[in-house]
Amino acid sequence: MRKLSVDHLHGIKFLNKADVDLIFDTALNFKEVINRPIKKVPTLRDITIANLFFENSTRTKISFELAQKRLGADVINFSSSSSSVKKGESLIDTVNNILAMKVDMIVLRHPNPGSSILLSKHTESCIINAGDGAHEHPTQALLDSFSIFEKIGDLKGKNILIVGDILHSRVALSNLYLLNLLGANVKISCPLSLVPKDIEKLNVSVEPDIQKALRWCDAVNVLRVQRERMIKSYFPDNREYSMLFGLDENKISSIKKDILILHPGPINRGVEITSNLVESNNSIILEQVENGVAIRMAIMYLLASKLNFSINE
Ligand code: CP
Repeated sequence: MRKLSVDHLHGIKFLNKADVDLIFDTALNFKEVINRPIKKVPTLRDITIANLFFENSTRTKISFELAQKRLGADVINFSSSSSSVKKGESLIDTVNNILAMKVDMIVLRHPNPGSSILLSKHTESCIINAGDGAHEHPTQALLDSFSIFEKIGDLKGKNILIVGDILHSRVALSNLYLLNLLGANVKISCPLSLVPKDIEKLNVSVEPDIQKALRWCDAVNVLRVQRERMIKSYFPDNREYSMLFGLDENKISSIKKDILILHPGPINRGVEITSNLVESNNSIILEQVENGVAIRMAIMYLLASKLNFSINE
């Protein structure tokens, strides 16, 4: 059996191309499973997984939980807002208490970059990073590239554009690592104040003219402006941002070609993208959500197969 090169999923940075090929092949199989009338398999029947969310989430949390249930795992859900974290308990103490209840795998979302790596140094459990601050969101990047792959095939040589708040986005960083690994050509387009320092080291070029960038690309991934992570103002206001960098019907119709439109969510309609484009034929936003379940099933299955457990094939 092919195995992942890693024991945890901390970030795309730690994966190689063979890992990604394996995750995509496995996700294709699981996508077939979740489209059957009986959508459940007993593959992780003997495994207990804790979803530890120290930051808000809709898609990622529900998608992981559904993926776990489809695989037959036992699931524990923890949300910091309703826990003893509010009474001052640390991350490590919280997790050790949960592990004492015999948990095999942890899905962690946390505001601090590097939190999943820190946790893996203090526990025996397998850790999956479900977003660590503005650092990485590996499962989102995997489902984004998988969704493009399903539509237009191998990403090698394809032109992929990322538009939006690159500076504060864990989705952007994980996508940049992954698109490089897959051999795609990558450009970003955003206000220069939202371009991270040394971004060119990630083999990406900056195109401030969004019309030029849209004409160039095969697919565009649109990111939200993350006001909650901003400690100062990076552009005058939302109206100016949308005029210059928001995707709308005029910008898309003027390029006179069909491109795929992706968005990881949550969407601020009317700011980074119009409602009409979210619902247009070019949009694969809800297919990304569907693929998220298959990708997460694949990752948990592949990581569980590296634990000392019998996987029920
Ligand atoms: N895409 C994403 O991570 O969304 P949530 O924050 O709702 O999980």
